Amino acid sequence: MLIKIPKTSDCRESDVTPESFYFSRRQMLGASVAGLAIGSLPSWADAADMARYPDVEPGKAPSWFAEKLPTTQWGAVTAKGETITPFKDATHYNNFYEFGTDKGDPAANSGSLKTEPWSVVVDGEVGKPGRYALEDFMKPYQLEERIYRLRCVEAWSMVIPWIGFPISALLKQVEPTSKAKFIRFETLQDPKAMPGQRSGFALIDWPYVEGLRLDEAMNPLAILAVGMYGRELPNQNGAPLRLVVPWKYGFKSVKSIVRISLVSEQPKTTWQSIASDEYGFYANVNPTVDHPRWTQARERRLPSGLFSPNVRDTLMFNGYGDEVASIYAGMDLRKDY
Ligand code: MTE
Repeated sequence: MLIKIPKTSDCRESDVTPESFYFSRRQMLGASVAGLAIGSLPSWADAADMARYPDVEPGKAPSWFAEKLPTTQWGAVTAKGETITPFKDATHYNNFYEFGTDKGDPAANSGSLKTEPWSVVVDGEVGKPGRYALEDFMKPYQLEERIYRLRCVEAWSMVIPWIGFPISALLKQVEPTSKAKFIRFETLQDPKAMPGQRSGFALIDWPYVEGLRLDEAMNPLAILAVGMYGRELPNQNGAPLRLVVPWKYGFKSVKSIVRISLVSEQPKTTWQSIASDEYGFYANVNPTVDHPRWTQARERRLPSGLFSPNVRDTLMFNGYGDEVASIYAGMDLRKDY
């Protein structure tokens, strides 16, 4: 993957909400989590609640999304003591190669992506295959907020408040057969709307594909996200439906999903197919296994710049070892990177 020094235009000083705000917000969240019998919290629609994300640009949420928000509860808040990344950085420093390879390209070019109507196919080794309009696909699920670290294989990281639901809930609905061992996710293929897919120079054999082993997908931390920062996903972040697996490098978090297949064989995934010596299928965040071209021991937490690089040590499994390490017991994570 390309590593680029962020342009100063990607994040102006004035766009960054003061950290003090986020620290006080973290305390509020900490208090909510401390009482984690998680009673319902105030409606997401009320003004005080919306003020939690003051720098967020308003979206144009479809009605099904807005209707689901009042039932949102604070879920597993697992980025303890962290500062939430300003919305501006999370939405203007992106990887979404369908819209270009520069970090600012997805925000600049993804307006052409039409996310309504949207349908999702569920197929393969399932008792209940089908093609669903997104609003029908979403009906069974309770939305939750999950504040997770996002660590890119390129050694930058963010902290993002996602809105989504556990993949385990989807698997319960679709009833995988005994032959299902992996779950494969596929992004929309639409060269008209996605300039990267029209480019003759693209390394990627579209559509972008990612996958998980079934036990990974069943882990409660693995979610399908439909929103972030209290609103629906912006296009550049993978609207209207994306994967979030916080203990893995960001490239596993496939965006704008149109097909979810339960399969018996390990799927051929995009970056592994391009360079299997650099990007593995598991892609667990691991500070002890370097990328062949750079160290993975440290990361730049965004916002980061020349005078304040904001470098920190990378944590094993991105800090989620208590929740996920047992999945990999007995595996050699140097070999299965
Ligand atoms: N999904 C698709 N379809 N296309 C992509 O290029 N990039 C991946 C992942 N999902 C990518 C994708 C990479 S490399 C990362 S780091 C994350 O999306 C970035 O997510 P973000 O832009 O929301 O931070």
